[in-house]
Amino acid sequence: MSGIKIITAGESHGQALVGIVEGLPSNMPLTQEDIDTELRRRQMGYGRGGRMKIETDKAEILTGVRWGKTLGSPVAIKITNKDWANWSKGMSVSSEDYSAIAAVTRPRPGHADLTGAAKYDFKDIRNILERASARETTTRVALGAVCKRFLKEFDITIGSFVTSIGDIRTNTLPHMLESVELVELFNMAEDFKGNTATVRTPCKRDSHKMISAIGKATAAGDTLGGTFIVFATNVPVGLGSHIQWDKKLDGKLAQAIMSIQAVKGVEIGMGFHAATLNGSEVMDEIFYEKPETPKFGFYRKTNNAGGIEGGMSNGMPIILSAAMKPIPTLRGKPLKSVDLLTKTPIEAAYERSDICAVPSCSVIAEAMTAVVLADAFLEKFGGDAIDETRKNYDNYMEYLSGI
Ligand SMILES: Cc1cc2nc3c(=O)[nH]c(=O)nc-3n(C[C@H](O)[C@H](O)[C@H](O)COP(=O)(O)O)c2cc1C
Repeated sequence: MSGIKIITAGESHGQALVGIVEGLPSNMPLTQEDIDTELRRRQMGYGRGGRMKIETDKAEILTGVRWGKTLGSPVAIKITNKDWANWSKGMSVSSEDYSAIAAVTRPRPGHADLTGAAKYDFKDIRNILERASARETTTRVALGAVCKRFLKEFDITIGSFVTSIGDIRTNTLPHMLESVELVELFNMAEDFKGNTATVRTPCKRDSHKMISAIGKATAAGDTLGGTFIVFATNVPVGLGSHIQWDKKLDGKLAQAIMSIQAVKGVEIGMGFHAATLNGSEVMDEIFYEKPETPKFGFYRKTNNAGGIEGGMSNGMPIILSAAMKPIPTLRGKPLKSVDLLTKTPIEAAYERSDICAVPSCSVIAEAMTAVVLADAFLEKFGGDAIDETRKNYDNYMEYLSGI
């Protein structure tokens, strides 16, 4: 059985960002609004820089959808960069525009700049930073939105909320998070009523403290990172597999989230904290109740494993947390670097930059979680048409309730 494949292309100041998602069944409803809603969520967040004020990201579905439903063929999506108007010469495809803008020769610590230029043999760091930029994640969010739409057909909800910014941690989170609780916290974090001064954290008091910390960092010309939780509810038992290292669902999710620019750590369930406790405090004991509807009768009263055991979903909500490092470009405290051409000590280049992007990062992590779960779901249940996928799913649920 095959799953989902995604690929993204595009430079930060190029004409457009494009992406393809392949492997979706036919007859799944999909609208541009399904995607634009997620793109808007990615653009939110207190502490974002000037670029987000220029862009109002909108998806254009180019292929794979007819009259509101998928065709089973690859879905290609384009997001035009509004800023292209200012970069049409500087990022031109034509050799006639060569040297239209000055080369970037001052590598920024914490970026792909120096190693990328060395590896790809460039004297102009722009050839690296344009693609390494987190602008690329716009496409990931668009493709993830398509995967979210697919998972919605099976009542799987994916959400996230911010748990810390800098050293301000939310302490309203209980250790064990149930589905209902997770969705409630997510709804609280989303409840910003169009106000861009959101940090996507559930508690208003923590939110004010985090906003004030970002304000202080801005005033000091510095930046901040933070942590967030991503979850998925109603994930059926048995996605992923124990049989080979690259089939393990926890491994796939960790890779997908770690691949997001500036993410430096991913934990599943209790994560690192589990290493400090006794086994009796960590494992989720098993209970059984005969199910009334077609579902798995075995359940847990705790979810320290974060919904994954042996590389497979165990029916409990999937819970991950991730850490984002502070934004590396500093306005007020330029970092020491060395000019690529002259080899003289200089200050790192400053390009319009975010102060804190943890709220956006959590939305991107939702998208990557959706891609991995849609892939694992389709690998398990297959189906060329959505009704076929559903029959396979229903049949499996029926089987589970009988064991
Ligand atoms: C949503 C988002 C926005 C970001 N915005 C910026 C930014 O404005 N300026 C910057 O220097 N880095 C920004 N970053 C971080 C860099 O993209 C990232 O640190 C860099 O590409 C190096 O990758 P690494 O940190 O994974 O090694 C952002 C990351 C994300 C996820």
